[in-house]
Formats: sequence, structure tokens, C-alpha cells
Amino acid sequence: MAEKTALIVDGDGASRNFLARLLEQKDCRVLETSLGREGLIFAWRDHPDLILVDPKLSDLPGEELIHKLRADARSASIPAIALSSDPNPAREAACREAGFNEYFYKSANDIPALMDAIELWLASRPDETPSTLEQTAPLTAKQKGGLLIIFISAKGGTGASSLCANLAMNIFLHQPRARVVVLDSVLPIGSIASIVGYDGGMNLVTLAAMPPAKTDEAFFRENLPKLPAWKFHLVAGSPDPESAASLRADRIGQIVQSLQAAFDFVFIDVGRALSQIILPIIQQADLIAMPVSPDMGTVRLSRVVWQYLQSKGLSKDHIFTILNRAVGFESISKAEVEGTLGLTVQSALPHLVGNLLMANSQNVPFASKFPNDTASMILKEVALQMITHAGRVRAESQQGGSYEF
Ligand SMILES: Nc1ncnc2c1ncn2[C@@H]1O[C@H](COP(=O)(O)OP(=O)(O)OP(=O)(O)O)[C@@H](O)[C@H]1O
Ligand SMILES: [Mg+2]
Repeated sequence: MAEKTALIVDGDGASRNFLARLLEQKDCRVLETSLGREGLIFAWRDHPDLILVDPKLSDLPGEELIHKLRADARSASIPAIALSSDPNPAREAACREAGFNEYFYKSANDIPALMDAIELWLASRPDETPSTLEQTAPLTAKQKGGLLIIFISAKGGTGASSLCANLAMNIFLHQPRARVVVLDSVLPIGSIASIVGYDGGMNLVTLAAMPPAKTDEAFFRENLPKLPAWKFHLVAGSPDPESAASLRADRIGQIVQSLQAAFDFVFIDVGRALSQIILPIIQQADLIAMPVSPDMGTVRLSRVVWQYLQSKGLSKDHIFTILNRAVGFESISKAEVEGTLGLTVQSALPHLVGNLLMANSQNVPFASKFPNDTASMILKEVALQMITHAGRVRAESQQGGSYEF
């Protein structure tokens, strides 16, 4: 990742120093000022990747500062976090309303969540590699073809890859003739291949190195490996970091388009990626499946991801939340998850103790390994819910048409 720049606008010197130290530890270049008006000048002149503001400023309120930033093309899309010393709860609503993406109180308890949010927002900004960005295939019109279902997780280990593979497999139980493909775009190392037991040489990196004219619908129909036990075809992810470094990311758009032409369902595991490369594909998705584990850290990060997706034009309708109890303990209730996330939890999976790990390590679908387990019934049900939901979103996007599987 290229070096990122953060701008701190805070009237309190101690707060500025504290934040600057944290950011510098993350190899971030830091610009600081105690004044709102100077903050505006820095933002417009230096184009930081992230702006942190204590809304209680001496020269202008933070709400006015963010309003001005949002109204100016040079700063309209720069993520901004309010870091507030104002205990009045109404301030949060006012700040969010005025355009801040996130709002945190200055409290020791909130520091880990703040740091996670900073990392996520910084990662969401494009690196300074315009050549790659310019080459990114523009995906403007809603694509036709297979339903596109993206798995995204705000935090590692929430079960995104396992659920992506297992739910894709479960489509077969509802629609045995449907053609399903799973693409792993997680960098630097994809994990779907190791879950399903694929060790062939074809993967996203090798496919992206081929000329676009070759990776067309017919090519994917005929040449992708099919995994008989899993009932789907696979575009494996990058096998190692070195391969990932040579990935022609600008090719992913066309590959996804061809896959949608060749398959009825295209599942993509994007892991934690919210990069500018993946974003156009996420924006084209019929559904975004977001596994969330019931701990506050993950839920708050998932909220950051959801707000980011919202700022990019995605509505609640596009999100399919899966409360996945990937860990044995449960720190918060479903209602608390929903309250914090601002989204309804649409499906829930129980804690599977070591069974999912066992199925994964033997490269077999959970439903085949444990056909009589209640969780197999739940997975089947969730798969149906998910494809029905995706079909509805597609039909609505086609203005009242219906989507036939
Ligand atoms: N409901 C569950 N019950 C028990 N274990 C689970 C559950 N869901 C996931 N796991 C386990 O959690 C681990 C992480 O799962 P997985 O790799 O699918 O998550 P991920 O979100 O893709 O993680 P990463 O960030 O590493 O890509 C695996 O060992 C998996 O078996
Ligand atoms: Mg994963």
C-alpha cells in the first residue's frame, strides 16, 4: 500500500499528539492543525486520505467544516471521522447528518474501535497508482446474466470463505441444474482452494494474465475446474503473496462479466477488500452477504463497512447479513447487533464447535460431512433465502420485471 496521509483537526494539542503518534505507527503521514479554517486549506491543498476532526473547534463548528468539505469536489469523497470531546448526544446526529462518516467519543474504551475504523477507511482509499485505476474496467450499466453475490467481511475469521463455499454448494440442493461459480479475490492469499481441496494451477492471477479476448463466456464455460463434491466451478484465488503482487487487477471486471454470462450464480469472496479495484464490482452485486460474528468489535467494524457501502450508493436491500457464531462465546444479543449495525439480521448460524473446521480440513462440504446436523438444514435454508433475496433485488432493479432462476 502506498503511504497514506491523514489530517488531524483538533483544538487540543494533547489529543493531536496522541492521534498523530498512533497514525505514524501505521506508517501514515500526518498533517495537523488546531483550526478549522486551516484544516480546510490543508484538505484542499494536500488531498489527505482521511480527515479526523474534533467538532468542537474555536473558529468554526465541525459540522460547518464537514459541510464545506463535502460541498467541494476536491474533498467531497475524503472519509472523515468526528472524534468528539462533546458529551451532548445530539452532537453525534448533527455531525453524521452534516457528512461525517463516523463518530467516536474521546474515550479510552473507544480507541480499539477507532483504530479499526481508521485502518478500514484508509484501506478504502485508492493507492496512488493511477495507471492501474485508469485501466479498471468501468462497470457502468447493471449487468445482465447470472446473479452476483459478494461475500464481504469486516473482520478476519468471521466465516466469509467457509460460508461462501458452503452456501454456493447448497444452491445445488434447491436448483440441481443451476450453474454456479465461486471466485476468490482475497489478497494476498485466497483460502477457498484450500477449503475445497483444489490444487490445480488455474487461478485468478493466471486468468487475469490472459488477454481479455480469450477470457470470454465460452472459455469459462469449458475450461474452469468443476469440483464434483462441491457442485460448483472455481476461480481459485491468488496462491501466494508474490502471485498477488503480479495480479492484473484491472482485468477482474471483465472476468466477472464473462462469468456472469456463463453461469447462473457467481459468488465472490472478497474478504475484507474495499479497494477501488473491487468497489465497482461490489456496486454491481445483486446481493452482498456479510457474515457478522456477535462481538462488539466485529459489529462496529461491520457498521463502518455498511456505512461505506451506503456512501457508495448501496441500499439496505442489497445487504444480506448472516449472524455467524464463529466463536463459542456470545458477548452480545441479536438485538444489540441489529441496533449497532443499523441493519436487520437476516439469518443466523449456530456455533459449529469444531465441525466446520473438520469439514474444511477434509475439503468436504459441511452438508455432506454432517447431513443430519441441524446446521446442515440451516445452511440449506439460508442458501434459499439468499438466492431468493438476490433474485428479488435483481427483479426490482429491472423495474418491475421478475427474475427467473
Ligand atoms: N459457525 C461457526 N462455528 C464454528 N467455527 C466456525 C464457524 N464459522 C466459521 N468458523 C471457523 O472460523 C474459522 C475462520 O473461517 P473462515 O476462514 O471461513 O473465515 P474468513 O472470514 O474467511 O476468515 P479470513 O479473514 O481468514 O479470510 C475457520 O476455522 C472456520 O472453520
Ligand atoms: Mg476468508
